Order: sequence, then structure tokens, then C-alpha cells
Amino acid sequence: MVFGRVLRPQALGPTRGLQVHGSYGGLYPAHCRAMSMHGKTMKPYYVTTPIFYPNAVPHIGHLYSLVTADILARFQRLTHPHQPVHFLTGTDEHGLKIQKAARDQGLGEKEFCDGISERFRYLAKRADISHTRFIRTTEKAHHDAVTHLWRELDARGLIYKDTYAGWYSVTDECFYTEAQITRTNDPTTSHEIVVSTETGSLVSYSSEETYKFRLSAFRTQLLHHFLANPSSIQPKPYYDQIVRQLSDEDGELEDLSISRPRSRLEWGVLVPGDETHTIYVWIDALTVYLTGTGYPWADGREAGEKGGWPADLQIIGKDILRFHAIYFPAILLALSLPLPKTLLTHAHWTSNQKKMSKSLGNVADPIEAMDTFGIDGVRYYMARVGGRFQNDVDWSSKQAEKHLDEIRSLLGNFFLRITSQAIRSKLSLMTDPRPTLSELSSSTYLPGDITHEHNRQVLVMLENLGSSVRSNLECLEVAEALDQIMLCLKQANAAMTSTRPWASDPTITYASYTTSLETLRIVGLCLQPIIPSTSNKLLDALGIRSGERTWEFTKLGRGKVENVKGVALFEGKQIVAKEERKIQGGRG
Ligand code: MSP
Repeated sequence: MVFGRVLRPQALGPTRGLQVHGSYGGLYPAHCRAMSMHGKTMKPYYVTTPIFYPNAVPHIGHLYSLVTADILARFQRLTHPHQPVHFLTGTDEHGLKIQKAARDQGLGEKEFCDGISERFRYLAKRADISHTRFIRTTEKAHHDAVTHLWRELDARGLIYKDTYAGWYSVTDECFYTEAQITRTNDPTTSHEIVVSTETGSLVSYSSEETYKFRLSAFRTQLLHHFLANPSSIQPKPYYDQIVRQLSDEDGELEDLSISRPRSRLEWGVLVPGDETHTIYVWIDALTVYLTGTGYPWADGREAGEKGGWPADLQIIGKDILRFHAIYFPAILLALSLPLPKTLLTHAHWTSNQKKMSKSLGNVADPIEAMDTFGIDGVRYYMARVGGRFQNDVDWSSKQAEKHLDEIRSLLGNFFLRITSQAIRSKLSLMTDPRPTLSELSSSTYLPGDITHEHNRQVLVMLENLGSSVRSNLECLEVAEALDQIMLCLKQANAAMTSTRPWASDPTITYASYTTSLETLRIVGLCLQPIIPSTSNKLLDALGIRSGERTWEFTKLGRGKVENVKGVALFEGKQIVAKEERKIQGGRG
């Protein structure tokens, strides 16, 4: 069963007269892009996802990072239509993990990455992700940015040569200390193995020459930054975790190993001035957020700002919090660059309550999921179940189906019910003057009429819907925003069932019809960031002009519904009550 239809990029909305920006068929007219009222170039709102390791094909967790970022990027465009949104994603192609995966398949690293990187690019396109830039870390521009960043750190005396002895995990691409590992027995071979306590990934001991970054010098500064910016890491438990780590007097923040001998790691950017070392893949990867703004900026910080720096919103999974909340900000402080404003950290999707892994064979395929549930079906499920970000959630087809039934019924069927032939016939009997929305929502319209009271309550709820959904999304509360939208739809459906507009007096039919269309218009606008193609279909069917789809139009009575055409918003089953079906006969 399919939820929604597969959407091609050009179906994102009318683009006539609009300039296409990056891979996203933009929403704002070219003339207002990037210019503030004073004619000064406006800093773009800059959103990033992690860049994905192309050592294996994408899974549902990767799509989750992308969809979360996309919801918030789309929301930003709707609330600030004059500010461009710069939205970066891409693939993280260097490092031991990739080197090993490529060699295992007898392929050159670049050739190996070409194929899988393309799969990530396709995933983003297929899922209607509105990114404006897809970077591969093997691009020359990125190579230059990494080399420049290294030189800058070196010039400031923040890099030194040392030896490193510790436990390295190829899977996690990082070193662990003795306190962070566990000795255990391999369940299949019974041989002793050593794993990271936190991630369970296999580690092996190595002692080698390395360059180090003076991370320890930035601990106090980082702590002050986070204490002064309590909403910079969200949700709160992740913020608390970082503040705890930084303030833990016993736990030294050790200097960070930032290179590996080239004899071990060949696949990466070489250390400038010492070709026997390769730059550590995380330094390489984190620099991508700067590369995405045109770093190294030829004209200094102002050019960086034009390119979007600092990032306004970074989306990451909880497994990579330390890299984004400690290592990267420390490097930025070292370079005297402003820090990203908000880091949104999400928990993980499990499958059958277990961590997804190839060996367990429980990895959910995002493309298959979109084939089954439709693009918006998957996006909706991710937002509804995964939109609180704090706790791990389980991916299950049964649950997906259950949640999709909810929106198919409350939105899809609701729309078909209100546009039925029976209601249209009743409406033709309505005589002038026709009440306005504000008259309908006032308690003086049909006073004492119990059935109309249901409509009035819906209108009262609609009055605040746009602004409360906005506050939720501004606070990065995606699931909570959906809760409100769904609550409103439930109330509107209940009102329709109580008022029975297909069998009522034309005055009530008209009141119900107008209330329901206004519900659909406002809900359709609010759902745009989450299920963009279904919302577009709905707004098109309501005849809402493209210029009347930004957030300011979510106010009651602020937009005009015209030439309503009843269409199926979702493919698949339509559930219509028996009595209603009998009366309705045909569909409009
Ligand atoms: N390449 C690094 C990121 C570098 S960013 C400068 C990396 N890549 S990854 O491919 O392993 O993961 C990318 C994103 O997918 C991370 O945000 C990670 O948390 C997310 N997910 C991977 N598995 C996941 C789940 N099972 N569930 C949800 N998201 C998870 O880390």
C-alpha cells in the first residue's frame, strides 16, 4: 500500500519565475533572495546533516538525520521567506573504514566511494530532501579547506608531534582509552576480544607517532560557552551530558590525536609538510561544514558569513555528539571562528528492539520503506514517532501502517468527505448573505445551536494552531508540533460527524463546509515541512495560490480557498462511514 505518490523534484511547487538553487527547486523568488531591507547581503540560514560514510548502503537511520534536517529547513523557508536557506549534506569518504571496505572488494577507494555516494545522493533526492549542497570529502575544494585549516592550527602553535598508545576502532574511527574498553569473549569463536564499552565496536591496540591538537587548552572556554548558551545543544539531556563531561574535574580533556601514520592510513588528506602522515578522518569530516560555506574565505569572515557561517542548526545522531559538541567547537575556538548556534541531537532507530546491524540482518532499507509506505508515509512516521529525539524508537512496518492509517483517515478521508456530491447539493441551497469565518467563530452566530457549537470549537482551535505549531518547531519539537495538528484534525472530524453536513439544514452544511475547508487550509500549510508533497497536493486541490503558502497565512481567514477539487490525497483504502456512504452516493 502506498501513502502519497513518488514525487519528482519539479513537483515541489510552481517554479515559474523562481530561480533553482542547488538541487532544491527553491521556493523564494530570485529578486528577494539574500537581500535584506537595507540592500546588505543577508546571512543565509545554514542547516547541516552529518556526512555519511559510504562504506555501506544507506539505512533508515541515515534517512532520519536527513528528514529531520529537511523538516526544519523547510519550516525556516516558510517562516522567513526572504532569507535563503543553505542546507548541506554529503558523504565522508576518507579513513580506515573506507580503505578497508574498498580493499575487501578489490576496488580502488575512489571508485568504491563513487558507487555508494551516488546511493546517498539518490536517497536524498528520492526522499524530497531540499538540500542545496551535497559535498563529497574527496572533492578538491574540501581537500583545500582541510589543508588550510591544518596550516592555520599549526601556525597558532596548536599542533605538536607525539606518540599515541591506545585502542583504535575502525568502525567508529576513533581511539579509546583503557577506561573506555571492555575485554570479552567472541560468542562465535570464544576467543578473547576487546571492544569499546560505549559502542561495542571491535578495537585493536596500536602505538604510533601522531600529531596532536591541544584540545585540553579549550576545556574552560568550551564550558563557559555552553553554560552561557543553554539551548545550544538539544534536547536537554544531551546538553547536560556535555556540560558534565566538560566540568568533570577528574576526567582530563586529553589532547586529540589528529593524524595517523600514512603506512597505516593511506586514504585521506596528507598532513601539509609531512607526507608520512594522513590527517585523521574526523578532522577532515568536520571541516566539511566550513567547506560548505566556501572556506577558506578569500575575503575573511564577512565572506564566511555570506556563505552561511556560523551554522544555525546542525543535526546529528547521539553517537557522534562528542565530535560535534567538543572537538569541532574547540577547533573553531582555536581558529577564532564563531560557533554553530544549535546542535540538535537525535536518538537512534532500532529494529526489533535491537541496534540495526548487518550481522543481525535487521537493517531497515529506506528505499524499500518508501516503496512500501510512500515518501511522505515514511517522513510522517519518522516525525510522529521519532520527532521527540530523546529516546531510541523502534522501526516496524506494523507501527508505520498504524500511524499512516491515522493520517489517511483524519486528513485524506476528511477531505473526501467534505467534497462529496451530497454536501455540494446542500450547499447549492444556501442563500445569501453567507457568513464570514469570523462571524462563524463568534458566539452570536446560531446561538444555542448545539451542532454548530462543534464547528465553533474547531474555529477557536484553528485560531492558534499556526502560532503554536510555529513555537514547537522553533523549539525543535517536531513530534509535539504534529500532536497539535493531529488533535485539531481529530476535533474537525468529530465536528463533521456530529453536524452531519450531508444531511443538515443548508445553514449548518455551509458552516461545516467552511470550517472544514479552513481546517484543511491551515493544516495543509502547517504540514508542508513534514509531508511536503501531500501538503502541496492538498493546497493545490484547495486552489491556494503559491504566494499564500508561507507561515503568515496560517492565521484564521488569512488565505482564500478557491475552486475546490476533491482528490485522493493518499492511495489505498478510504474509510467512509456506512450512513454517509449511502447518502453521499457519488463523489464530487
Ligand atoms: N561520517 C560520520 C559523520 C561525520 S559528520 C562530520 C558518521 N557517519 S554515519 O554514516 O555513520 O552516520 C551518519 C548519521 O546517521 C549519524 O547522525 C548517525 O547518528 C545516524 N545514524 C546511524 N545509525 C542510526 C540509527 N540506527 N538510527 C538513527 N540514526 C543513526 O557518523
